[in-house]
Amino acid sequence: MNIIDGKQIAKDLRIKIANEVKTLKRPPGLAVILVGEDSASAVYVRNKELACKEAGFFSDKIIKSENTTEEQLLEEVERLNNNPHIDGILVQLPLPSHINANKVIEHISPLKDVDGFHSENIGKLMQNKSHLRPCTPKGVMTILSSIDCTVMGMNCVVIGASNIVGRPMAMELLNARGTVTICNSKTKDLAGVVSRADIVVVGVGIPEMVKGDWVKDGAIVIDVGINRLEDGRLVGDVDFDAIKEKAGAITPVPGGVGPMTIATLLENTLIAYKQSL
Ligand code: GUN
Repeated sequence: MNIIDGKQIAKDLRIKIANEVKTLKRPPGLAVILVGEDSASAVYVRNKELACKEAGFFSDKIIKSENTTEEQLLEEVERLNNNPHIDGILVQLPLPSHINANKVIEHISPLKDVDGFHSENIGKLMQNKSHLRPCTPKGVMTILSSIDCTVMGMNCVVIGASNIVGRPMAMELLNARGTVTICNSKTKDLAGVVSRADIVVVGVGIPEMVKGDWVKDGAIVIDVGINRLEDGRLVGDVDFDAIKEKAGAITPVPGGVGPMTIATLLENTLIAYKQSL
């Protein structure tokens, strides 16, 4: 079967974490802050809370109104930075436009930055010295190792250069000694670049942008996109039906990368807990 079961890989990781949590003196604590009423964000935050409870973590969900000021949010982060029951702090993005998201991220203690978005943690990722690595790219690396995919020496193509996915993803693959090409939706001859890839990771937010005839036979295709079409269907950034016949392995949407992001968030919170001892 060349369809990667991200749900199962995530479940295995969550069970491993839950078993470790049972041996700890106190539960690891994760605080998730949600500002405003973005409905997709509300679903993500609820799923994070459920996963925390299931793994035996202490979970603090902090809901703030849309008109919360930047200063109030910074004060909340400060309180959590100083709270000894909280090991990880996650501010759900996107934030309302009157708040400078970067300023908020930089205010989170790097030791509690379980998203791995603080410049100190991103800097450490660049130097291959990190403790807290962004969840989605780290989750993709867990998927690759769980299917015994060798990264060393492989041609890796990352499409999308966002701070959350593309840039840290490229660095993860480089740290694993892949040969990495970072593209975006405007890259010249993107199909040609993709056709030389052994591993393709796509996170651009364009429904089914990567076509079946772009991908080399046997390539590993990781789809980080999640797009809701007008007819209600949920699709990724790659044309799954066309590619699944050719790919060595491919992640579905949903049920591929998404569940790994949350499991990796728990993994990061456990790492933050351990480094606080
Ligand atoms: N919004 C979409 N993905 C993410 C993520 O990984 N972390 C946070 N904090 N917000 C997000």
